[in-house]
Amino acid sequence: MNQNDNNIYGIGIESSCDDTGVALVQNGQQIIANPLYNQTELHSEYSGVVPELAGRTHLEKFPALFGEILKELEKRHIPLTKLSYVATTVRPGLVGSLLVGYYGARAIARAARVPLIPVHHLEAHLYAPMLEEKTIEWPALGLLLSGGNSALYHMKGPGDLTVIGDTLDDACGEALDKAASLLGLGYPGGPFMERAAAEFALQKTPQELEKLRRQNPLPKILKEQGSEKYRFSFSGIKTALYYYLQKEKSPEVGFLAWAFQERLFEIILRNTRHALENFGLKRLIAAGGVMANRELKKRLQELASQMGADFLSPSPALCTDNGAMVAAAGYLYHTHPEAPRQPDEVSPKNNFPRLEDLK
Ligand code: KG4
Repeated sequence: MNQNDNNIYGIGIESSCDDTGVALVQNGQQIIANPLYNQTELHSEYSGVVPELAGRTHLEKFPALFGEILKELEKRHIPLTKLSYVATTVRPGLVGSLLVGYYGARAIARAARVPLIPVHHLEAHLYAPMLEEKTIEWPALGLLLSGGNSALYHMKGPGDLTVIGDTLDDACGEALDKAASLLGLGYPGGPFMERAAAEFALQKTPQELEKLRRQNPLPKILKEQGSEKYRFSFSGIKTALYYYLQKEKSPEVGFLAWAFQERLFEIILRNTRHALENFGLKRLIAAGGVMANRELKKRLQELASQMGADFLSPSPALCTDNGAMVAAAGYLYHTHPEAPRQPDEVSPKNNFPRLEDLK
C-alpha cells in the first residue's frame, strides 16, 4: 500500500433476503470487488423465498465471499486496519438472514478496529447510482420498487428520508412474481414478465398498443386516489388476473403480461409525477430490483425529462440486492457523521431490533 493512500475503503454486507453480498468499495464510488451469491435457484421450486433456507445459505456462503475480499485487499497490499468502516444491512429483511450479515460484519469490524455502520436496506438501494459515477444531490424524490417493498421517499439529505407513499398490500416485484406464476412463467417473475410483454408489444404497432391500452381487461389501480396521495396497491390486480384466467379458455400469455405491466407502470408513473410536482423536486432516483425493467426505466426517464428533472437509476446489475450499495450508504454515513439516523422511519415494515439492543 502506498503510504499516502488517502482513499476511504469500506466493506458493505448485504444478507437481508436471498442474496449474500460482500463488497469492497473505494470512496463510496469505485467498486473494487462485489461478489454475490444469488439463491434464486434454491428457492425457485417453492416460487418464493423460504426464510430458513435463506438464512442457512447465507451462513454457508458468507465465508467464501469475504475470502474474496481478503484476497483483493492482499493483492493491493491494503491491511484490514486500513479500512475505514464496515457497513451492513440491519433492516428490513428476514431476521435469520439479517443476523448472518450483522454478526459477520461485527466480527470484521472488530478485527479491523473500525466502526460498524448499520444501514437501512431500502436507503442503500437509493444510493446505488453512486457506484456508477453519479453524484447524489438533495433534495430528491426516491422511488424504490423491489420484491419486498414499493415506496416513494422525500430525500432531504443523507439519512434524512421521509416515506411519502407506501404500498397498501403487495410489493411491485412480489405482484410481478405472483402474476408470472399464474401465467405459468418462471421465477423470479419480473424478468419473465418483462420478456413476454416486450415480445408481445414488438408485434404491435403503436396505434394497436394504444387501443389495447384503452381495452385493458385488468383494472386501473387506485383510480380514485387524488393527486395528493402517492400510495400503491398491487394485490387487487393480481386477483383480477387470477379471475380473468379462471374465465378465459385460451388466455394469451404475452398480452396478459403486457396488460399487467401496463397497469403497474400507470400507477408508478402517476404517483411519481404527482410527487415530483407537489414537492417541487427536480431529481428522481429510481432503484430496486423492478427497476431492472427497461421499459419502466425508459418511461420514468421520459417523465423526468418532461418535468425538467434529473433521472438517476442504476444499471440492472446494481438494481438488485448487492453489497456495494450498502458500502455506498456506509460511506455517506461515514463522511456525514452529523446525518440523522432514522432507519425506522424509512420503512414501516421494520422487523429487526435496533442495533443498540443487539450489543
Ligand atoms: O431488490 P430486489 O433484488 O430484492 C428483493 O426485494 O428481494 O428485487 C427483486 C424483485 C423480484 O420481485 C423480481 O421479480 C424483480 O425484482 N425484478 C424485475 C426485473 N428483474 C428483477 N422486475 C421487473 N423487471 C425486471 N427485469
